[in-house]
Amino acid sequence: MNAWMMNGLFALVFLLVATGLFFFVVTRGALLLRSLSSNQSDTSHVYPIYSNMGLIKLVDFQPIISAILLFQYHRLVSKIVGDLEASNLKNKTVLITSCAFGNVIPRVVDASVKAGANRVLVADVVQNELTHARSKLGQYAGTMEYIESNATAMNQKDGIAQANILFFLLHELPHPMKIQAMAEAGRLLAPGGKLYLAEFHKPRLWVLKVLSWTYFKVFEPLGLALWDTHDPLNCLEAMGGWTCQRSTYFFGNFQVITATKL
Ligand SMILES: C[S@@+](CC[C@H](N)C(=O)[O-])C[C@H]1O[C@@H](n2cnc3c(N)ncnc32)[C@H](O)[C@@H]1O
Repeated sequence: MNAWMMNGLFALVFLLVATGLFFFVVTRGALLLRSLSSNQSDTSHVYPIYSNMGLIKLVDFQPIISAILLFQYHRLVSKIVGDLEASNLKNKTVLITSCAFGNVIPRVVDASVKAGANRVLVADVVQNELTHARSKLGQYAGTMEYIESNATAMNQKDGIAQANILFFLLHELPHPMKIQAMAEAGRLLAPGGKLYLAEFHKPRLWVLKVLSWTYFKVFEPLGLALWDTHDPLNCLEAMGGWTCQRSTYFFGNFQVITATKL
């Protein structure tokens, strides 16, 4: 290996380590520090990467977000968008429970409007996330509403929505809140309404299992329970009142659950 290649390799390793360190500091590292304080609240699980506007703008670039989901982001969003477009949402409300980086919100809003929805409600526990989401949705201003609200207890009437999208929220919630958020998603749906839940899933390939396990242990320890004790499909079925269908992606590493409220 010549000096030029050595330097390139060194630069690549440095970049990977620096990126990993950055994400650790603004996610798990910050939560570990926070856990040392006695001042805990129902938003203590939220990473600074979602509450600080500078960090939100720094990170929210499609290639970065797609890479975090192993370049499956587009497929997962397309599954939800395709189903929304095929639904009859005429004069109905669509709920997006929690913001997410990338183009998922604009694509979901666009699909909902095409399917006839006349109101799209975006709920998030962080006001800066709502402000950021609003900045991507200027052309839909007349249809959009933004509410600062916890996914586990929303200040909205029963059955207001015909579709509810939870995009990679559950794996970041403490376990009891995972169940509460799914129950609340059900409360807010009208009978026949659909919950679209995109999440991580236990992969079939052992290489992916090892990599994912390591990722969760280092960055997002609350996510591992989705593999077993808090498998969202099992939780929804145990709750009752749903018929559920699961599609998995990339050797089972990701899932989209479509749950219809009975
Ligand atoms: C959906 S999750 C993560 C999505 C994924 N990592 C991404 O950005 O593509 C991130 C969002 O969930 C929000 N959030 C976290 N806990 C919440 C809760 N209990 N209720 C509502 N929103 C919540 C955060 O404020 C943030 O906007």
